[in-house]
Amino acid sequence: MVTRTIDLRSDTVTKPTETMRLAMAKAEVDDDVLIYDPTARHLETEMARITGKEAALFVPSGTMGNLISVLVHCEIRGSEVILGNNSHIHIYENGGISTIGGVHPRPVKNNEDGTMDINLIESAIRNPDFEICYPKTRLICLENSHANSGGRVLSVDYTDQVGELAKKHNLKLHIDGARIFNASVALGVPVHRLVQAADSVSVCLSKGLGAPVGSVIVGTKSFIDRARILRKTLGGGMRQVGILCAAALVALQENVGKLGNDHKNAKTLAEGLNKIKGLKADVASVETNIVYFEILEGSNITALKLGKIMEEHGILLMPDSSSRVRIVIHHQVSASDVQYTLSCIKQAMTGVENGGN
Ligand SMILES: Cc1ncc(COP(=O)(O)O)c(C=O)c1O
Repeated sequence: MVTRTIDLRSDTVTKPTETMRLAMAKAEVDDDVLIYDPTARHLETEMARITGKEAALFVPSGTMGNLISVLVHCEIRGSEVILGNNSHIHIYENGGISTIGGVHPRPVKNNEDGTMDINLIESAIRNPDFEICYPKTRLICLENSHANSGGRVLSVDYTDQVGELAKKHNLKLHIDGARIFNASVALGVPVHRLVQAADSVSVCLSKGLGAPVGSVIVGTKSFIDRARILRKTLGGGMRQVGILCAAALVALQENVGKLGNDHKNAKTLAEGLNKIKGLKADVASVETNIVYFEILEGSNITALKLGKIMEEHGILLMPDSSSRVRIVIHHQVSASDVQYTLSCIKQAMTGVENGGN
């Protein structure tokens, strides 16, 4: 009989804590489209302070945060954005920057650590002398931490270099900082320093931070003024949104301090997986809360099948392909959950080896 559920599918699966629910119940609210909601104002002021930017805006999701940011920077049709070929904006956001915004993507190869080579970024910038044929480059996007690279972090030095390149060519820099707090904790660098070079950042509240809903975008006051209008256009203007922002304020207070522990648990998990016969995890590349592991050829089990067996033990995983599994740690996964997961996976792999399952 399953006695506990350990949900490792994503850091988006967290449930609001009692403190969050209490804060939501008591939240002071008003109409946020009319900019009267005091709790939304409080959250936005706090996020602007933490990120070192002039202003902030609560948005329903990270996808909308990225879309609005790209659209504000690329308001003229035919603009082009340089972004990673393995980035969330390029792969998982329905091509919204093109279909909704008329913005042309110029993907540059992401390295295994989530960076793009600076010389490749520079050579992807269009020559304005040939505008008769070329779209106009207006924006560079980075992602920190980089999800598809297993939560690898981009350093301050790298981000500053891309910022300098953007300035040199009169471009803007946007950071998809869905997990920027994870990156900040992993690097031991305050968020405001990490994003200093960026003109805008989209920060998810509902991932590592553990709030139930929402993201915040930050930038200059004029950027946010324009973003507010676009948010309404896209249907993201919500009314008594302070209910959600109250939970996010609790998340900022209570959960940022737990991210280091999540990273430690992720590392322990990767090390443990690597010791199980038939599995391989790249321990060194686990820098934050995401772990990918491979099922080695000849192991006689697919990722889907392993996921099904784990489900019987109350452990939820996300197969990434037939031989690759993604695990994401969050504040509702404990060190003992990690040990239990490792013992169940080991048992399943031993069962397969012995011809069971
Ligand atoms: C790196 C990154 N950016 C953006 C998003 C989009 O966030 P949302 O699911 O809130 O739209 C995600 C979601 O997983 C993400 O991992």
